[in-house]
This record gives sequence, structure tokens and C-alpha cells, in this order.
Amino acid sequence: MNFPYQIKNLEQYQQEYKRSLDDPSGFWGDIAEHFTWKKKWDTVVQSDFHHADTRWFEGAQLNITENCLDRHLADRGDHTAILFEPNDPNKEVQKISYAELHKRVMEFAWVLKNNGVKKGDRVCIYMGMIPELAIAVLACARLGAVHSVIFGGFSAQSISDRIQDAQANCVITCDGANRGAKTIPLKSVIDDALVSCNTVNKVIVYDHIQTPVSMIKGRDAWWNEEVDKVQQSGNTYFPAESMDAEDLLFILYTSGSTGKPKGVVHTTAGYMVWAHYTFVNVFQYQPGQVHFCTADIGWITGHSYIVYGPLSAGATTLMFEGVPTWPDAGRFWEITDKHQVDILYTAPTAIRSLMGFGKEPLQGKDLSTLKVLGTVGEPINSEAWHWYDKEIGKEKTPIVDTWWQTETGGIMISNLAGVTPSKPTYATLPLPGIAPELVDENGNVIEGMDVSGNLCIAKPWPGMIRTTYGNHERCIETYFSAYKGKYFTGDGCLRDAEGMYRITGRVDDVLNVSGHRIGTAEVENAINMHEGVVESAIVGYPHDVKGQGIYAYVIFSGDSSNPDLLKADILQTVSRLIGPIAKPDKIQLVSGLPKTRSGKIMRRILRKIAEGESDKIGDTSTLLNPEVVDEILLNFI
Ligand code: WT7
Repeated sequence: MNFPYQIKNLEQYQQEYKRSLDDPSGFWGDIAEHFTWKKKWDTVVQSDFHHADTRWFEGAQLNITENCLDRHLADRGDHTAILFEPNDPNKEVQKISYAELHKRVMEFAWVLKNNGVKKGDRVCIYMGMIPELAIAVLACARLGAVHSVIFGGFSAQSISDRIQDAQANCVITCDGANRGAKTIPLKSVIDDALVSCNTVNKVIVYDHIQTPVSMIKGRDAWWNEEVDKVQQSGNTYFPAESMDAEDLLFILYTSGSTGKPKGVVHTTAGYMVWAHYTFVNVFQYQPGQVHFCTADIGWITGHSYIVYGPLSAGATTLMFEGVPTWPDAGRFWEITDKHQVDILYTAPTAIRSLMGFGKEPLQGKDLSTLKVLGTVGEPINSEAWHWYDKEIGKEKTPIVDTWWQTETGGIMISNLAGVTPSKPTYATLPLPGIAPELVDENGNVIEGMDVSGNLCIAKPWPGMIRTTYGNHERCIETYFSAYKGKYFTGDGCLRDAEGMYRITGRVDDVLNVSGHRIGTAEVENAINMHEGVVESAIVGYPHDVKGQGIYAYVIFSGDSSNPDLLKADILQTVSRLIGPIAKPDKIQLVSGLPKTRSGKIMRRILRKIAEGESDKIGDTSTLLNPEVVDEILLNFI
């Protein structure tokens, strides 16, 4: 495959960028010509931000799996599509060629169909990071079912909420997943989740860790047995369903500043073009390279840069089942050496954690195949950036700091590896098609250089969120209402003298813990469910490894004679209701929370205290209860 739209130098970037904004239809129409369509589009883009109504390539028909699989068969059917590195380094590596992946996806699409899944149905996928997860995702797309992948760290309650919101009728899971020295009993979590979900009538279970599970008659079926049936039928070819450009491809739930997580909806054609275009340009992918994205497919990064981006480009995508620090902190480097990885894409939190182990884990590891390093998920601090550059990139490998969101579908602001300039801790420049704007609180656009403000995107791009599943109003309200006619990201941002962008973090009540997005309201609701808790407030504070830690202030009315037990109980409750990733790092029991006279919690004060900046609290005299601030400061942990 060649990529005529791959940008090769700074000047070309500037030209393409200009054209993308001056003539978006011409620009994206030309790029779209390089994909496989069943029918071409009538219009390239139509958009009305006031109603959150954007359509790309309307009138077109396609199937994304034909672009990720079928179109590669003739030229590179025998090339490795998925390179699977198991959790345990002593277990066997799997190499799945494009031809093999094509076959397995079609067989599994038959399994779904035979089990009653139809085009448009929602299928929930809750699996570990194994090839079957990618196969399940692609099989849904082959058949036209909408996948909703849920990260393995979410609890039964969270799964149940998501399944009910999506009204899914089928769940695909594993008996269990390996994560370092631990195993996670996925099927049993699903069983708990399904107690309260009456829409699900099929559960397909892949036997991965050979742990005993209970199977429900009529509802549960084994993956391998179902595939065997398809193979025995002799009819394994599964024609790719014809999808409209704007048909739903997937839902991915993500946290916001209020309420329950919302189902971010991505559709078929625009998402495909965006995931592919950003993959090829940001990482400067060259045919034959091995791309190692360390994210989990349960997050958007995995969707776009483990599955759809790399596969649409015919790349070898490395899937790693395990964790960076098991059996030791050299695991990423060992994998890089073993598989001669060309592109490594990971999160600042992983870099900071590995940095803490020093140089020893790097000893004897050949990292010389690396051509591009990437980071994603949170602002990268200078120390981590330089460590990554020096120890991993040997000061000669470009680092791309990629800013984007679940809602944006793909990378929005980033340097293009080796093509446009990088600047430590800066995401740098917008991709073609992306029109960033900084706005002040009143919605005025801040022009010029050396300025900061709230980051908005002023024009539609192919990978943008289309709706929040089942509640379009919520989409309008969350993203398109704060600043009329613009998409609001929720991030603060600065633009330096050269016009380079640096994302400074969320300006709403959303936390970013180890690159995982966590809504404060969600954690508070979970804590408040605990017997005896009157009220709670969650804020973030700087954490050396996680980026942000979770600080909980809790008013407790019950018996608190054993505070350690009580705190452990609260953590249990959060784990059960959301998942272990949302557990507070610190819990402080308080008798009250600082409130305004109208009863609103003054989070700013709580944040300052948690950040250790109590000298910056300011005037508390207008509070309803200024005395609690002193009490909180006295008992601060
Ligand atoms: C939030 C989105 C994008 C996939 C992973 C996270 C933060 C993301 C960067 C970056 C600074 C970043 C933002 C954003 N973020 N990338 N390179 N520099 N901040 O997706 O869970 O939707 O979270 O992650 O705050 O809004 P997500």
C-alpha cells in the first residue's frame, strides 16, 4: 500500500493544512478516494454545530472491514496483521496473517449471526487483550452490529449500566483475563452484571485461561464450539454488510463532569478516514513496520490505534496482553527487542512508572529498531519527556505528543513524526482539518500568540462524535452549548509564540488518573451509596506516577471509631460500583464541606488543599461555614 496523502515535510504540512480548512470537501474527498467503497458519497460534509448534526460522506456505502481486511488480501494476505504477545513471556507468541484474520473475522461474524445478532444490534464486548477481542470487534463491524467495548477494569454495576443504556442483546466475553500475576474473572463479573439486564439473550464465551465458569442454559455458548459449527457448515465466507456512511460503528462510554458515563457514538465512514489518516501521518507509518500501541482496546486509543488505524493501513499491530511491570519493569523493552518494534505508542503514566525503575530494566535490550515514539492520554511532564527521549529514543527518535479524546475519534493536535517540529511537553500543531480556538470564559475567541484559554474546535472533522447514545440533547449540551457554534473539549490550553499548542489539563470536573478518565460526580455518587456517608467531594491532586490522584473528602455520620476499616469499606464500595480504577488514593473524614451561601460545594478550596497549596485558598469569609476549612486543613493527609 502506498499513502499519497502522507505528508513529507513542513512546507507540505502547511499547504495541506491550509487547503483542508479552505476546501474541506475537496481535501477529504481526495483522501477518501483511496478507500474501498461499495458506493461513493453524494456530499463530503454537512454540518450544523448548533444541533450537533454533522454528516461525512453522506450517500456512501461501505464496510470498514473491507478496508481493514479484504483490500489487503491480494498484496499482503500472508503479512502479519496481529502480532500477539501474551501476558506470560514464556507462552507462545501468535502471528495472525491478514488472510487468517479475514477468515477468523468472517467465521465469527457467522457465529454472531447464528446467535441472533443482526445489523444495528448493540453488542457488548468485555474481554482481555487477546486477538479474539479484535476479532470480535471486527466481526461486529462485518455484520453491521454496533460494538461497545468495556474495559476489563470496570465492575459488574458499570457494565450493567452500559448494557442497559445501549440496550445490547449480546455479550462477548472470556472466562477470564491475565493481568500480570493476577487473573480477572471476566465471565463471573458478566454473570453479576446480567442479573439486572433483561435485553441480553446471548453470551459468547472464549475459553482463555481455562478457569471454571458457570454457563447458563440457552443463554451462554462457547466461542470455539460455535466456530466449529460454522466451519462444519462449509459456508464460511461472510459478505461484508453494506453500511451507510453515517451508520453507527461503535459506542464507547466515557465519563463527564456530571451524571453517568455517556455513550460516545462514532459512525462508519468519517471515523474510518480519520483513524487511517491520522495513523499514517502522525506516526509516519511505512509499509512493513511493527506498530506497538500499549493501550487497551477498552479505550478509544485501542480502537483507533490498535485496531482500525493500523489494520486499515495494512500494518502489523502488536497486541500485548500483560502489564508493563510484570514479570519485571523491562517488559516493554523486551517486547520491543523481541519483535523489532518500529513505533511505540504509550502513556505518560507508564513512562513515569518505568522511569522509576531506573536503567537496569533497559540493560541488554536492543531498542534500535524504534523509529517513532508516541505519548497519549495526559499532559507529559518535562522529566518524563526527556527520559523517554534519552533512554528509549537515544535522542534520535522523534516523539509525538498526541492530544485527542474519546469524542474526537483520532489524534487532533500532534507533531508528525520527524516531519513537523516537536517541542517537549507540547502537542504542537493541529492536524489538517482541525481548527483549534482558544476562548475565554465569556466565549470570546483569544487571538494571537502567547495566550491561553479553553480549547474549542471550530470546524467539523471526519472523526468527531456524532451523538451520545440515546440522548442527543446531552451531546448538544455537553459539547456544543458552552460556546455556540464550537465543539468544547473541556481542556485548558496555551498557544506559545510560535503558535504551538500545549494542553494544560481539564477545566471541568473530570479527572485524568493514569490516563483514565474519571468523573468526580460518579465517584461521589458511589461513595454516597455507602451506609452512613452523608456527603462527599472528590478532587484531583498531583500524583508522581498517575498524573492525578483522587482525593476524597467524606462526611460520615455513623460509627467512625475504626476509620481504617471504614475507609477500606468505602474503597470496596467504589470498586463494586465503578471499578478499581476509580478508587480514591486518599480519604479524609470531615465534619463538613466548605459551601457557598447557596449551598454549593466550593471545590476550588478543596482542590487547593488537596494540591498542598493551602496558602492560595484566598478569602473564606463569604462561605456558609468557614470554620470547616480550618478543620480540614488541620486533619489534612
Ligand atoms: C482527555 C481525553 C485520547 C485517548 C486517551 C484519552 C487528556 C489526552 C493528551 C495529551 C495532554 C491529553 C485531555 C483530554 N489528554 N491526550 N497528549 N496531552 N492531555 O482519552 O479518556 O477521552 O481523555 O485526555 O485532558 O481531554 P479520553
